[in-house]
Amino acid sequence: MKKGLSFERVIVKMTQYSNTEILMTKTLVATSALIYANGPLHLGHMLEGIQTDIWVRSQKSLGHKCLYISGSDAHGTPIMLTAQKKGMDPETMVARYHQDHEQDFRSYGVHFDQFHSTHSGENKALSESIFSKIQANGDIVNREITQAYDPEENMFLPDRFIKGTCPKCSAKDQYGDNCEACGAAYNPEDLIDAYSAISGAKPIEKLSEHYFFALDHYQDFLSKWLRQGHVSEPVANKLQEWLDEGLKAWDISRDTPYFGFLIPGETSKYFYVWLDAPIGYMAGIEAYCQNNEGTLDDVFGLDSQVGLYHFIGKDIINFHALFWPAMLKSAGYRQPSAVHAHGFLTIDGKKMSKSRGTFITAKRFAKHFDPEQLRYYFASKLSDGLEDIDLNLQDFIARTNSDLVGKVVNIASRCAGFISKKYQGQLAAEADQPELLAQWLAEKDTITHFYTKRQYQRATRAIMAIADQVNAYIDQQKPWQLIKDPEQSNRVQSICTTGLNGFRLLVAYLKPILPKMAEASEAFLQCPPLDFMALDNHLLSHGIATFEPLMQRIDSSQIEALLADNSDEA
Ligand code: MSP
Ligand code: ZN
Repeated sequence: MKKGLSFERVIVKMTQYSNTEILMTKTLVATSALIYANGPLHLGHMLEGIQTDIWVRSQKSLGHKCLYISGSDAHGTPIMLTAQKKGMDPETMVARYHQDHEQDFRSYGVHFDQFHSTHSGENKALSESIFSKIQANGDIVNREITQAYDPEENMFLPDRFIKGTCPKCSAKDQYGDNCEACGAAYNPEDLIDAYSAISGAKPIEKLSEHYFFALDHYQDFLSKWLRQGHVSEPVANKLQEWLDEGLKAWDISRDTPYFGFLIPGETSKYFYVWLDAPIGYMAGIEAYCQNNEGTLDDVFGLDSQVGLYHFIGKDIINFHALFWPAMLKSAGYRQPSAVHAHGFLTIDGKKMSKSRGTFITAKRFAKHFDPEQLRYYFASKLSDGLEDIDLNLQDFIARTNSDLVGKVVNIASRCAGFISKKYQGQLAAEADQPELLAQWLAEKDTITHFYTKRQYQRATRAIMAIADQVNAYIDQQKPWQLIKDPEQSNRVQSICTTGLNGFRLLVAYLKPILPKMAEASEAFLQCPPLDFMALDNHLLSHGIATFEPLMQRIDSSQIEALLADNSDEA
């Protein structure tokens, strides 16, 4: 029989934050949004992958069981059209990007327990079953609606495939929902001289019957759910506008041609991509369970004790914090423990855009920089809020060189030489000023708390404050002078032992952000894998390996090379 995913609740320790908050081992599932499989990953996608990966690694290090599930979002009109343009089957294109994305994530140290796809057997079966449960619950309504239709392509046009002249400022070639020139928001019917972005034809109005999910049945449920701590207050406030207007039934069907799952009993109507997309999280978990342990019900059953956390960008909050919890409620499943939304990545203060040259693929960036440097930079800027995050390339250089190379790695390089050359690579039996080590170790709970709360900026600041203290200690002790003084030189070994144990703590604290550098440091320190739960024993009377540089300085010529590199796929 398969083992369940639900865990015994074991009391590990009390945290210092309150004497009632008890840290227990938990089973957690974290997801990041499923990536549309019709283009390469860019640094905005990577921001989310890195944010989630850091959280998962920190929770594992705290002794929890924590799965990281994500994958490809394979369906919808844009996917269908990109495949057509490339002259490929959508299946083939989606499979290629699926592999490509997972590989890119891996090169940034983003590790999934399951990287699945919405175009999968599990997802088809789950989407059909959830749809039929929702229908049986009386939450599906059918209605005829008119929509814009491209008479040349014989297809209905989603808003973003209708273009025309802005009704407010007369700017030409604006999209169906808002004007990039003046910022006005409107309906596609309001556009002057509207045309299909696919064929250029003038759209006509056409009737069609659609399936709707009765979101309005969940008005009361969602009003309460949003104020129970499942989303932050700013997110709840954003969604309050929807509630205040009164929730409306949500169109969950699309007519052929479409790439997706047919609605059971229909021959030319499909589930809208946003119906089966979040169900893709379930499909990923189910696939994980099939290959490993547990069942989907351990996570999504009504009595599940598993913490379920969705990490997403601020543009898709309504899907995750209104539609999804209501769908789950209707189908008889539990709701997410929390939906964590982050802001958007900008590059040197500008929105990422191909035409402005501020669009950077994950692959191109990794050709010019160590991806761990970006992990650290993102961490140093991430909070639990919705603010956008700017990648300022000059600041990125300064941050990497001063914090990682100048502060952290520098400690190891300052101390290691003495230990190798003068003490046969052996650390002293006792550390000089052990109270300093105790003090740096005592910071652990503060730092891990910041990770758990997704306040990585605060975590990195607290860690760098310790790095400053370790460096200040070495500056004060001046081992390079003591070593020349025959009466004092015996202290150098214990001073460097304190320095290197300080370094060990810093690397352990940074490990969720810098797993590769941590691994290299473990090899240098000849210590078992560093883990938040096993830091109490300092390295004493212990042999270390020779020091090798653990992180390269960045040179500003690398930025020029990054920006001049036009190797991105078309
Ligand atoms: N397929 C949907 C999600 C379905 S989840 C059930 C989707 N895909 S996406 O590829 O467009 O975006 C994936 C994630 O990346 C989303 O959370 C989105 O907010 C995030 N980001 C896309 N561009 C981004 C930035 N420039 N900055 C930060 N995150 C960004 O939406
Ligand atoms: Zn305009």
